[in-house]
Amino acid sequence: MHQPFETAPASAIPIHFVTRSNWAAIGKELPPQAQQFAKANDFTAKPGTCLTLPSPDGQIAQVLFGLEDETSKSRDLFRPGALPGLLPPGTYRFANPPHDVRLASLAFALGSYRFGRYRKAEMPAVRLVPPDGVDISDIVRMAEAASLARDLINTPSNDMGPEELALAAEQLAARYGASSKTIVGDELVRQNFPLIHAVGMASTRAPRLIDLRWGDPAHPKVTLVGKGVCFDTGGLDIKPSSGMLIMKKDMGGAANVLALAQMVMDARLKIRLRVLIPAVENAVAGNAFRPLDIFRSRKGPTVEIGNTDAEGRLVLADALALADEEKPDLLVDLGTLTGAARVALGPDLPPFYTNDETLAQDVARFAKGEQDPLWRMPLWPAYDSWLDSKVADINNAPSGGFAGSIICALFLQRFVTEAKSWLHVDIYGWTPSAKPARPEGGECQAARAIYKLLSERYG
Ligand code: BES
Ligand code: MN
Ligand code: ZN
Repeated sequence: MHQPFETAPASAIPIHFVTRSNWAAIGKELPPQAQQFAKANDFTAKPGTCLTLPSPDGQIAQVLFGLEDETSKSRDLFRPGALPGLLPPGTYRFANPPHDVRLASLAFALGSYRFGRYRKAEMPAVRLVPPDGVDISDIVRMAEAASLARDLINTPSNDMGPEELALAAEQLAARYGASSKTIVGDELVRQNFPLIHAVGMASTRAPRLIDLRWGDPAHPKVTLVGKGVCFDTGGLDIKPSSGMLIMKKDMGGAANVLALAQMVMDARLKIRLRVLIPAVENAVAGNAFRPLDIFRSRKGPTVEIGNTDAEGRLVLADALALADEEKPDLLVDLGTLTGAARVALGPDLPPFYTNDETLAQDVARFAKGEQDPLWRMPLWPAYDSWLDSKVADINNAPSGGFAGSIICALFLQRFVTEAKSWLHVDIYGWTPSAKPARPEGGECQAARAIYKLLSERYG
């Protein structure tokens, strides 16, 4: 990752954060020439606008950057994340504190990301002197994890199949001294992961289950499960081309649990960490699983396939069942599971589900505090019977189509009975159009909020 912070600066250009209400006062403090230059440029401190002010010898003397007023309802604490994309190369510092200095520094780091695997990325040669009082190593830890998640998601499926995803997990394990093993192909059947095998078997790239472990076995058990569908065609219930277009991102849950695992291991949190990733490609072929097929799941219940495009909950079901067997203290799963979640809350606000009230409050608190928004939705008990099948124990995609994200959460809940606490997040994993600190493309969602929650509990 590009290093966005400059810790030994010779000199740094000051960035003045200004709002429409304090601009007049701050402007008056500037040298007369700079005041005149800002006026000539019609600078009014409109949020998001940036103006570089020259010195008499034509250098950049300082920068003005507009923010929302302190009291604005639409205040975006990540606005400074636009700066790396706006500023000319150089080393900068905050002249005055933005609304939230820590989040502004994080935004700056997140906004420095570019995806550079296939062409020389125009890396912004823009660096920031860490502001006083900010734990910059924690910021760098979170930004590096976000880069990992984004890189994994942005990498197209031809270079990010089940094998490459497993490789990424193994590399992460090696870096932090974690152990990892992977169950591949028909071995999934022998070791009783029928649903992971059923979803993945039509691809020429064998399905697999990645199992990573790290930390002191005596510490509380926290297990992360991530949906690793490396491409989702929909299977025989094939998606239209518009719906298939960004399905390289369907391993976004896996990418984000790896990002979360990286932060946990890097910060050496006092937990016994386990990461499970069912990595498959939901492909179309003669041997693909079909609508109305019935499989016995690892946990026992038989599952009727209502729709081959509801594949994420199938692979998670077997992985959650395995996770559940050792009764973890906290079980977390992340996945890009439903279009319905996006219909309900849009791409930037993933719904989360849990029956643990304390956990729900903590997740909401850290989501807000870390600018990693999440919104609680209910595991609505009355809808559970919608999952009934006429011929099997459960249907993966009951007809009706109401409450799609809730139904998926209720489906997964059937496979978690032993964990002390369970959290499920139906993420989107993608930023459709660039915003400050959030370049277009693969996105790190829920991982930072959960990392901070785990830090508070187990730091
Ligand atoms: N990967 C998709 C969910 C998805 C679609 C996420 C679009 C983000 C954007 C998932 O596997 C899927 O296809 N879900 C179906 C479920 C349905 C068949 C019950 C959906 O949401 O349409
Ligand atoms: Mn699907
Ligand atoms: Zn999917």
